[in-house]
Amino acid sequence: MKLTKVMGHRGAALLAPENTLASIRAAAATGVKWVEIDVHPIAQGGLIIFHDHTLERCTNGFGNTLEANLETMLSLDAGSWFGAEHDGEKVPTLEQAIDCIQALGLGLNLEIKYEDADVERVVPPILAVLSERWQDNDKLMISSFNYEALQICYREDKQRHLGYLVEDVPSDWLLKLAAIEAFSLNCYYAVLTKQQARAVKSAGYKLLCYTANEAHLVERHWDWGMDTIITDDPNQFMHLES
Ligand code: G3P
Ligand code: MG
Repeated sequence: MKLTKVMGHRGAALLAPENTLASIRAAAATGVKWVEIDVHPIAQGGLIIFHDHTLERCTNGFGNTLEANLETMLSLDAGSWFGAEHDGEKVPTLEQAIDCIQALGLGLNLEIKYEDADVERVVPPILAVLSERWQDNDKLMISSFNYEALQICYREDKQRHLGYLVEDVPSDWLLKLAAIEAFSLNCYYAVLTKQQARAVKSAGYKLLCYTANEAHLVERHWDWGMDTIITDDPNQFMHLES
C-alpha cells in the first residue's frame, strides 16, 4: 500500500467542519492524498461519519450519538457551529463519504469509533459497506482503538490493512499487531518515545502519528521513523510530499 506522509484528520478539521463532505473536499483541496474519518454506528443499524459520543459540539442536535436514529441525524446542521459559510452542512452517511472520497481519488483511513462490547453486531455491517463500495484495497486502511473490532476485520478478510490505534503504546503492542497481521500502529505523537518508535519500525510496521497541527511538534518523530502524520491542517505539512 502506498501511504503518503500527510493524512487529513476528520477530513481537514481545521479547515472545515470535521467529518463532513466539506471537510473531505477541503482536505483534497490542500493536495493531501489520504483522509481519516470516524465511522460511528447509531440506532437501527445506521452508519454515520461522526466523532463524538454526543451531538452537541458538532451539530444543532442533542443527546447520545449511539441512540440517534438515522433520519434525525441526517436532518441536523453539522456545519454552522464551524462558521456561517457552512450552514446546512450535513452529517454524511458512510456510503456518502466513501463516494465522495473515491470521486476525489483519495485514500481512506476509516476509524471505527465504537467502545461498547457488542462489536460482533456493529463491525460486520461496516465491512459489508466497504466490500460493496470501496474499490481499491491499496487505498484503504481500517483503524480503531477497539482491538476486538480489528480482530473481527482480520477474521473477515485477511487482506485488509489494519491500523491499531493507541494513546500510550501498550506493553503487548507487538503481540497484538502480529496477531492481526496489522499494517500499522497509529499512536498519539505526544507520548510516543523514540525507543517505542524505533521498535515499531524494526518490527516492520508502519508508524502513524495523530494529531499534530504544528510542524515543530513532530519534527523529531520523522527521524524516529514516523511514516505518516494525521493532521487537522494538511497545509502545514504538504511541502513534505514534494
Ligand atoms: O485516527 C487518529 C485519530 O482520529 C484518533 O483519535 O479521537 O481524533 O478519533 P480521534
Ligand atoms: Mg479519528
